[in-house]
Amino acid sequence: MPASFEKPVLIVFGAGGHGRVAADAALLSSAFARVVASDRNAATWGGELLPGVPVLSPDEAAALPGPRAVHVAIGHNTIRRDEAARLASLGPLATIVHPAASVAASARVAPGCLITAQCVVGPMAELGEGVIVNHGAVVDHDCRIAAWAHVAPGVNLGGAVQVGEAALVGAGSTVLRNLRIGALATLGAGAVLLQDLPDGAAWAGVPARPLSQATA
Ligand SMILES: CC(C)(COP(=O)(O)OP(=O)(O)OC[C@H]1O[C@@H](n2cnc3c(N)ncnc32)[C@H](O)[C@@H]1OP(=O)(O)O)[C@@H](O)C(=O)NCCC(=O)NCCS
Repeated sequence: MPASFEKPVLIVFGAGGHGRVAADAALLSSAFARVVASDRNAATWGGELLPGVPVLSPDEAAALPGPRAVHVAIGHNTIRRDEAARLASLGPLATIVHPAASVAASARVAPGCLITAQCVVGPMAELGEGVIVNHGAVVDHDCRIAAWAHVAPGVNLGGAVQVGEAALVGAGSTVLRNLRIGALATLGAGAVLLQDLPDGAAWAGVPARPLSQATA
């Protein structure tokens, strides 16, 4: 088989709970020849992230024969982004799609994304590099999710919602269609967003308001 058609060994970087979710989806997707994990934390080396998924030191991971691909499985958005830049020499970023996710044929998904079980990514939706679409989230038609954002479990994004770079859309929240969530913004778990959320702001509640007002 020519080298270009060989399935790569996937290195899941991040040996915590989020890494387990990524490795599990990778194993089920059959897109990779083998799945291993790695982490900077020496206490994890020599163990297993999941049965059959060893945790290697970064040096051991770098010594694996190619082809290799890397998925950075760190929930914190800006740490995930920065680690991806640092790990570029290990191999290209790999997107993982759980086989029980539904991704429209016309959706565009950049490298390094994780699309987990029971998610829906609708027609013409766009996911930037390193985006997480977590369990059961709906990213409806024409949504644009910028790089390193996290759409947490159970989120419902109506059509044509825009999510800015490295934003966190909290678990179980709902965003009405055509709205924009700014870069590095946080929408609290369970919120219902009825208007645009500015860059860097943290809003929560039903309807969502700045956190200080939501708790007043
Ligand atoms: C909104 C959020 C970012 C606030 O975090 P924080 O700044 O650490 O805030 P605190 O936990 O100190 O809480 C501050 C106040 O906000 C309230 N609050 C926190 N989260 C809230 C939420 N989601 N909705 C409504 N109120 C919330 C707290 O009750 C507290 O109120 P008080 O001042 O009256 O006691 C966070 O609680 C949240 O919802 N994050 C999303 C988590 C998530 O979904 N992660 C994905 C996991 S996969």
